[in-house]
Amino acid sequence: MLNSIENADLDSKVVLCRFDFNVPIVDGEIMDDTRIRLALPTIKYLLNQNAKLIITSHLGRPKGVIVPSLSLRPVALHLEKVLSQPVNFVNKTVGPEVRKAVGGLRLGLENIVVLENTRFDKREKSNDPDFAKELAELADLFVSDAFGTVHRAHASTVGVANYLPSFAGFLVNEEFSKITEAMKNPVKPSVAIIGGAKVSTKLDIINNLIDIADTIIIGGGMVFTFLLAQGKEAGKSLVELAMIDIADELIQKAKIEGVDLIIPEDIRIGKDLRTPILDDRAAKIVSSDNIPLDAMGLDIGPETENKISAIIGGANTIFWNGPLGVFENELYRNGTEKIARAILNRNVTTIIGGGDSVYALNMLDEPIPENIHVSTGGGASMELLSGSKLPGIECLKSK
Ligand code: 3PG
Repeated sequence: MLNSIENADLDSKVVLCRFDFNVPIVDGEIMDDTRIRLALPTIKYLLNQNAKLIITSHLGRPKGVIVPSLSLRPVALHLEKVLSQPVNFVNKTVGPEVRKAVGGLRLGLENIVVLENTRFDKREKSNDPDFAKELAELADLFVSDAFGTVHRAHASTVGVANYLPSFAGFLVNEEFSKITEAMKNPVKPSVAIIGGAKVSTKLDIINNLIDIADTIIIGGGMVFTFLLAQGKEAGKSLVELAMIDIADELIQKAKIEGVDLIIPEDIRIGKDLRTPILDDRAAKIVSSDNIPLDAMGLDIGPETENKISAIIGGANTIFWNGPLGVFENELYRNGTEKIARAILNRNVTTIIGGGDSVYALNMLDEPIPENIHVSTGGGASMELLSGSKLPGIECLKSK
């Protein structure tokens, strides 16, 4: 159980709030404000409880130096718009200017200050205790609503919790409880669809979901390493030779646990990532037993799509992480699109994580029904689904 902000006495308190405002910004313009909008319930609750807010976040990966294009100023301006109230911005993370701005916080309209990108200070990522203490000394309480960053043990996500009473915001609470509940008590039959390019990055999640789901479906570039493990050919497809044995171990583990591990039986191929075979407008389809030596597998084929759609149609819990093919190219988008549509049509508990699957889902431009939980954390949701304990969650647990 996380220590919810609803348990905190917030009246007139200064609250150090960590959000994940790592949003796409081009020329100072926010291209997708989902993470900001989803932080609003927590921000509004804190303000309604008469708290004064110091807002922190990282943006991008500036490696401990100031990168002007990664300033949080556009986020502060955006907050001003969506909250319809003034928001002060300080272009420092700690130090005298920050202390002065925090000292100037007043109940009423001057109650929010946004600090500069925490990653402009190299002590953030090393979870430096002095940096954490300096941030913590600004406030009475710490609230984390940065679900996308709970897998990072940084000074502003975890370190500050050593010095302040710490609470989970509504988004962190919702994401954590929905994902862990689906993992603990999946309504059977359950299916996990795991796509993406490399087995090495998905190994832990597949391994853990074999213990949870009734069916595991492998998609994306990973397929070809699994085909090699089955003794098949992969042509020029992306493969990780060092992971063939691991892929075989996963196949054997699924067998032992009675889990149906599905590796695509037909594949859409091309010459390379951009060039279709013989300049056909349609991608060519082959059996996964017969991938030509000079071809690259780029998407699942129609038979596999139908098989997966039927499994999804009968599933009562669905986990989805990672695209099934090179969906950025319209010739190899079919598999991902078909599977996304099958998921949208199924009114059962569904957990979707991973930036690419979320992007693919949004490409359909369909409303997302209530039963589908789309995580704001790519890495965070993947680590949670891998069975890891996440530092940014552990520090918020009720003591
Ligand atoms: C994300 O976008 O997944 C989070 O903000 C974490 O970012 P990071 O991978 O740079 O830590």
